[in-house]
Amino acid sequence: MKKILITGGAGYIGSHTAVALVNSGYEPVIVDNFSNSEKSALEGIKSILGKEVKSYEVDCLDKNGMEKVFQENDFSGVIHFAASKAVGESTRLPLKYYSNNIDSLIILLELMSKYKVKDLVFSSSCTVYGQPKVLPVTEATPRQDAESPYGNTKKICEDILRDFILSGAASRIVALRYFNPVGAHPSSAIGELPIGVPANLIPFVTQTAAGIREKITVFGNDYDTPDGTCVRDYIHVMDLADAHVKALKYLSEQKDNFYDIFNVGTGNGNTVLEVIKTFEKVSGQKLNYEIGPRRTGDIEKVWANTDKINKVLGWEAKYSLEDSMRDSWNWQVKLGKK
Ligand SMILES: NC(=O)c1ccc[n+]([C@@H]2O[C@H](COP(=O)([O-])OP(=O)(O)OC[C@H]3O[C@@H](n4cnc5c(N)ncnc54)[C@H](O)[C@@H]3O)[C@@H](O)[C@H]2O)c1
Repeated sequence: MKKILITGGAGYIGSHTAVALVNSGYEPVIVDNFSNSEKSALEGIKSILGKEVKSYEVDCLDKNGMEKVFQENDFSGVIHFAASKAVGESTRLPLKYYSNNIDSLIILLELMSKYKVKDLVFSSSCTVYGQPKVLPVTEATPRQDAESPYGNTKKICEDILRDFILSGAASRIVALRYFNPVGAHPSSAIGELPIGVPANLIPFVTQTAAGIREKITVFGNDYDTPDGTCVRDYIHVMDLADAHVKALKYLSEQKDNFYDIFNVGTGNGNTVLEVIKTFEKVSGQKLNYEIGPRRTGDIEKVWANTDKINKVLGWEAKYSLEDSMRDSWNWQVKLGKK
C-alpha cells in the first residue's frame, strides 16, 4: 500500500482527502499542529473508516520533527495542505503567513529530496487569478498581483515549485488551484470547523440559520452579474478530495522532473443570492439577510474552466450546489451552536 504524507490532514480539505485516500487503497499519514483544527477530526475520520489513520502532532516548520516523520515512514507521495488561510488575518499578520506557508513548503521540498520522495500535490487557490478579464479562467489565464499576503503566499509557492522543477529536481509535482470549497462528508462526521467570525459565505449562511449569527449581509448587489451579487464556483469538498487521489495517480505515471497545474472547480458560477435561495430550499430554513455595500477586495466574478482536469486527470465534479448546501447544513446541525 502506498503511504502518503498529508500535512494539515486534520483540517477541512485534508480530513476529507484522508478518507478518500483510504477508500482508494492508499495509506495516509497525517501531520498537523492543530493550529486550525481539532483532534476530533481524527475521531471523525476513524468513525467513517472504521479504523484509525496514523497521525503525528508536528509543526511543519519544525524541520527535525518533520525529518523524524520521514525517517519513520517510507512515503511514496505528499499532499501539502498545511497553511494559514484566513485572508483578513493575513493582512494584519503578513509575516505569520509568509513564514508558515512558504517556509513549510521549503522544508518539505528539502526533506522530500533527501528521502527521495518524488510526488507532491500542492494546495493552491483560484485567488492567484484575481479578477480575470476573460471568464471562465483556464490554467493559462495570467495570474495577477495578489490582493492579500495570503494570496501572495500561494503565488510565491507556485513559483517555488516551478523553479524547483526548472532546477532539474527529480520530483513530480501538481498544484491544484481550488475554487470555493464547500460542503462536508455526507455522514456529517467531518466538515469545516468554524474558528472566529467566518469570512466565507457558506459557514456564515449555516451559522445564521443555526441562530449563531443574527443576519447575513450580502456585500453589494450592483455588480455586473445576473442578479448583481458576486459569482463564485462552489466545489464540494468530496469532489475536491477525489481530485487529490486522481492527481497522485497521474503523478505516478509521469517521468521525473514534472510540474503541472489544474483548476479544481465545477465549471459553473453561482451568485450569492442563488446560494442563499438554494440553501433555503434544501434546508427548509428561512435566512435573515440584507443587502449591504460592496466589500473592499471582493472579486466580482470568477469560475473555472475545467477542461484540463476533466481530460487529463479524468476527474469531474459530481456533487451539485444542492448537495453542498445539504451537507453543509447537516454538518452545522451536528455542530449545533458551535
Ligand atoms: N478552504 C478554502 O477555501 C481554500 C481555498 C483554496 C485553497 N485552500 C488551501 O487548501 C489548504 C487546506 O485548506 P483547509 O480549508 O483545509 O484549511 P484548514 O485550516 O482547515 O486546514 C489546514 C490544516 O493545516 C494545519 N496547519 C497549519 N499550519 C501548520 C503547520 N505549520 N504545521 C502543521 N499543521 C499546520 C491546521 O491546523 C489545519 O488542520 C490550505 O493550504 C489552504 O490555503 C483552501
